[in-house]
Amino acid sequence: MPIVRVNIPNSPHDFIIEPGGLDSLGQRVRAVAPHGRALLAVDQKIADTHGRTAMRSLGEAGYDVAEFRLRAEEPLKSLDSARAMYGAMLSARLDRQSPLIAMGGGIVGDTAGFAAATFMRGVPLIQIPTTLLAMVDASIGGKTGVNFELPGGHLGKNLIGVFQQPRLILADSRTLLTLNPRDFACGLAECIKHGLIADPGLVDFIVGNRDSILNRDVRVVSQLIERSARIKISIVERDERESGERALLNLGHTFAHAIESFPELQLQHGEAVAIGLLAACRCSHVMGLFAEAEADAVSSVIRICNLPDRLPGSIDTGVLMEAMRFDKKSLHGRLRLVLPVARGRCEVVENVPDDVIAAAWREVGAR
Ligand SMILES: NC(=O)c1ccc[n+]([C@@H]2O[C@H](COP(=O)([O-])OP(=O)(O)OC[C@H]3O[C@@H](n4cnc5c(N)ncnc54)[C@H](O)[C@@H]3O)[C@@H](O)[C@H]2O)c1
Repeated sequence: MPIVRVNIPNSPHDFIIEPGGLDSLGQRVRAVAPHGRALLAVDQKIADTHGRTAMRSLGEAGYDVAEFRLRAEEPLKSLDSARAMYGAMLSARLDRQSPLIAMGGGIVGDTAGFAAATFMRGVPLIQIPTTLLAMVDASIGGKTGVNFELPGGHLGKNLIGVFQQPRLILADSRTLLTLNPRDFACGLAECIKHGLIADPGLVDFIVGNRDSILNRDVRVVSQLIERSARIKISIVERDERESGERALLNLGHTFAHAIESFPELQLQHGEAVAIGLLAACRCSHVMGLFAEAEADAVSSVIRICNLPDRLPGSIDTGVLMEAMRFDKKSLHGRLRLVLPVARGRCEVVENVPDDVIAAAWREVGAR
């Protein structure tokens, strides 16, 4: 059972990967947030299965635990949902020492994390990620937040938020067995992203173990989680607040968030990231920073992971470029993009010309 220590200054905590670990959740929470009461904010889809196991374990460890169920839909990653959680915490008579346990994918983790960070100026947060994407990415690093409407009505991703490190992250890789194949593939997009940023061997691992991974071999998937999570952990340890290196983790995300502002495209976050990764590679190639063969190799790994490498339908390039301007990474209205410059190495590039970005959008299927 790998336990990775996350050495964030002032908030060190453990990241535990343990198949079947939900059974001992209560004892683990008690070790980092001993208290009488707790709230389990759980993804509605798993509340009656994995959620039951968690509730039982918390009860056995002596917690008087209340439950709040949230449907995992991007429009519900909202201030309204955070507000409903505050109500649940008050009804359950939680105080500043009571842990809020976020159990689900990134939607529940981000929303409950935000509620934990802001309720009474912050209560202990425990992250129990139950999607591959949340295990390798969303539960790590302390970014919490909700979406907000952009002027014009489109969905603005993660515009309201706050940093709140968890006291513990517990990834029970067995919970992934109930994830549908599409949601599982979404997590692979973030693993590929980590490989492109820091570890080309991780991309090779995914290619070499593709079948075992897609068949959810718990041993291989646990290795994948550890290797991928370690990359994010080491980056956020060095740069918790994104004043430098952490920005690299946004590879593909400026494109992805623009895609996600059009829910009618019906793409999930990981799928938008897959297309965004490829758009970033194409952008980099047009600028002469990245070989075409490397970009083609990324396209191929995305496809063998059953992820999309093109936008569905026909969406206008100009509309996507406009949506990119609301990205949090833009500075004084100018876009800064993270672009791959070699296998396993990326850089933040300022002032990427509009025609280069437009060309990249067209390469991934925009009109
Ligand atoms: N905070 C961060 O650093 C960070 C990083 C990356 C992504 N994110 C955010 O994470 C979100 C995406 O997270 P996600 O991909 O986990 O999506 P998600 O939370 O929507 O979960 C995907 C689907 O899986 C279901 N599900 C969850 N666990 C399950 C299980 N064990 N078995 C069966 N079904 C299960 C959910 O109900 C949902 O339908 C986005 O909002 C994204 O912005 C945040």
